[in-house]
Amino acid sequence: MSGSDNDDLEKELLLAAVESDARACEVQRVSVIKKIENEMETDPEQEVNEAAPETVIKEPIVTTQSHETAPKKRKHDVIEEDCKKQTGYASVIETHYNKLEEKGLDERNKSRIVYMRNFHNWIKSMQINEYIVKIKDSKRHNVPIRVLDMCCGKGGDLLKWRKAGISHLICSDIAAVSLDQCKSRYETNKRNGSSYSIELIHADCTKVRLREKYADPSIKLDLVSCQFAFHYSFESLPQAECMIRNAAECLNPGGYFIGTIPDANELMSRRNKAGMNKFGNDVYKVSFECDTDRPPLFGARYNFHLDGVVHCPEFLVHFPTLTELAKKYGLKLVNKEKFYNTFERLKLEGRNLLSNMSSLETYPSDQSTVGTSPNDYTHAENFLKQNNEDRRMKIGTLSKSEWEVSSIYLSFAFEKVKNTWNVDGTPKFEF
Ligand SMILES: C[S@@+](CC[C@H](N)C(=O)[O-])C[C@H]1O[C@@H](n2cnc3c(N)ncnc32)[C@H](O)[C@@H]1O
Repeated sequence: MSGSDNDDLEKELLLAAVESDARACEVQRVSVIKKIENEMETDPEQEVNEAAPETVIKEPIVTTQSHETAPKKRKHDVIEEDCKKQTGYASVIETHYNKLEEKGLDERNKSRIVYMRNFHNWIKSMQINEYIVKIKDSKRHNVPIRVLDMCCGKGGDLLKWRKAGISHLICSDIAAVSLDQCKSRYETNKRNGSSYSIELIHADCTKVRLREKYADPSIKLDLVSCQFAFHYSFESLPQAECMIRNAAECLNPGGYFIGTIPDANELMSRRNKAGMNKFGNDVYKVSFECDTDRPPLFGARYNFHLDGVVHCPEFLVHFPTLTELAKKYGLKLVNKEKFYNTFERLKLEGRNLLSNMSSLETYPSDQSTVGTSPNDYTHAENFLKQNNEDRRMKIGTLSKSEWEVSSIYLSFAFEKVKNTWNVDGTPKFEF
């Protein structure tokens, strides 16, 4: 899809929102939309960074193996009241994640999507490492690093935090069962030498102001990470705003909000290519449950089914809207990148980790491959033909079906900017 097609899609999203979205609180929404409209006139970032979904999905291949005061209470009351009015999909999402079984390592290794999951873990590790390094570079030696892992799930990133050498971690999630598992994992890791402290918060991060739940509500965070979860907040504007406020309000200036989400443009493009509201392959399926001709800015719902891991309602994240909302809370976009581009940028630096985490499947392999369809490794065969005279050479790759999932996602990073104060005590951010 060309840059101008992306622009068209965004204009369509915008028009649809203007015409049909009655869920969100109107005054805030209109002001966000106005700003987005202005930005969209000249949005070079969209032109440059959006991958072209029509380019047949490119599989990854590597050869061989000042303390901010809270904004005025009245404003928050409005957000919270708006959220509470909506029962929405929170309980469906919560029940889904609470029911997800904790599978042992053996079981996980047998999964059809084991390499894709490992690859996503590699992406998260590289992203966490990249921003931890920036934070450490900007601090004096041994200054404590404090992190919020928003929507932490079962604590899949606890070891990454250990490796990052942080001092304190706040974990929050809507699913109490996942949070219990996160706690047990933390205790096991602690016995094995993890030295950071932790606090766990059971909360709907799209409806609850996390700061009020922190052991120390005046805590200053260096990093907020929200992996594979921020899109749940795009059910409505108040929810998205609550989640962004949670991400932003305790961050130090110079701190980062990082995460990974499905790319709405990619999903819409696949829907358009399929010519219907359902598409997928043998490992994932998406079915849109909203008006795809005019998807609303918030509440553009689709069901996502992934090989027994996720079967859950999700919402398109219109990225320019996210960027605008983030600005309101002092967050400046510093990176937005499709997974393939992250892989290309970091594959040399992260080569050892790719291998240690078994993030790519070895091809050809002595064992049977996870993909069984004849097309699953055509890209690898072609690569070998083009690059290899020595037929014994092996490469690392993902099966086509797995890559069709990974290539839906993008990672993002926002930096918290400095602020001065308005006479009414609200922060004035210095962009
Ligand atoms: C795909 S999992 C990702 C878990 C973890 N971040 C990771 O990368 O392994 C999504 C998580 O988001 C959580 N979640 C979804 N909606 C939420 C909400 N409104 N508030 C808090 N957590 C939520 C789910 O319970 C689930 O644990």
